[in-house]
Amino acid sequence: MGKRGAIRCPREEMLMQESRAHWDRVYDSKAEGELSWYQERPAVSLDLIHRAGTPKEAAIIDIGGGTSRLAEALLAEGFRNLTALDISEAALIAARRRLGPGASRVNWIAADVTRWDPQESFALWHDRAAFHFLIEAPAREAYARCAIKALRPGGHIIIGTFAPDGPQRCSGLPVMRHDAASLSAVLGGGFTLLDSRRDDHLTPSGKVQKFQFALFRREA
Ligand SMILES: C[S@@+](CC[C@H](N)C(=O)[O-])C[C@H]1O[C@@H](n2cnc3c(N)ncnc32)[C@H](O)[C@@H]1O
Repeated sequence: MGKRGAIRCPREEMLMQESRAHWDRVYDSKAEGELSWYQERPAVSLDLIHRAGTPKEAAIIDIGGGTSRLAEALLAEGFRNLTALDISEAALIAARRRLGPGASRVNWIAADVTRWDPQESFALWHDRAAFHFLIEAPAREAYARCAIKALRPGGHIIIGTFAPDGPQRCSGLPVMRHDAASLSAVLGGGFTLLDSRRDDHLTPSGKVQKFQFALFRREA
């Protein structure tokens, strides 16, 4: 199905394989509605995409898209250049199955975003609840380098993570919580913060999770 990043050192390769195996197990063993991050409509993400003024033909990528309903919501609005990237092939298979015939209108990439080498340019990079799993600085730096390479100047990046008062773990893994300032620091001076929102996500089991979303523009 997809393109994978280049192989690096054995430890990195082992960690990447463990991460991929973890996420494959999650998506192979749970239905969509059993996932704590499930949402029927990605309302905040859509709001921020509208706020970015992204044209319908613009190239949009959803990083760590999992089985999110963002792609079908965007297709329904007339966006037509969509890519979903996830480390888990099982997630992408489940997402494609749910989309049915619409799946052929999305470009699917199975890759670890911290090792991915983008070959095309995107107008908008969206990430809800993938970046916060990068708890080591080198991984966050690799993510930022990848985003800078993938985003065209003037393009936008939306990152949603657990907020500073949000959960410390997700899917059994530790996370790093963020506010707009820490996200801004990771991306560096080439990005301008345009919007910052907090969101209370209600999990399918009825718990509230505090999220932080930020929208940045990549300066020329
Ligand atoms: C909590 S889920 C969120 C899924 C989706 N964004 C949503 O809002 O429904 C995190 C997703 O990030 C993916 N992921 C985790 N680490 C990743 C990485 N290094 N590269 C790409 N995807 C990753 C997982 O496979 C999973 O689908």
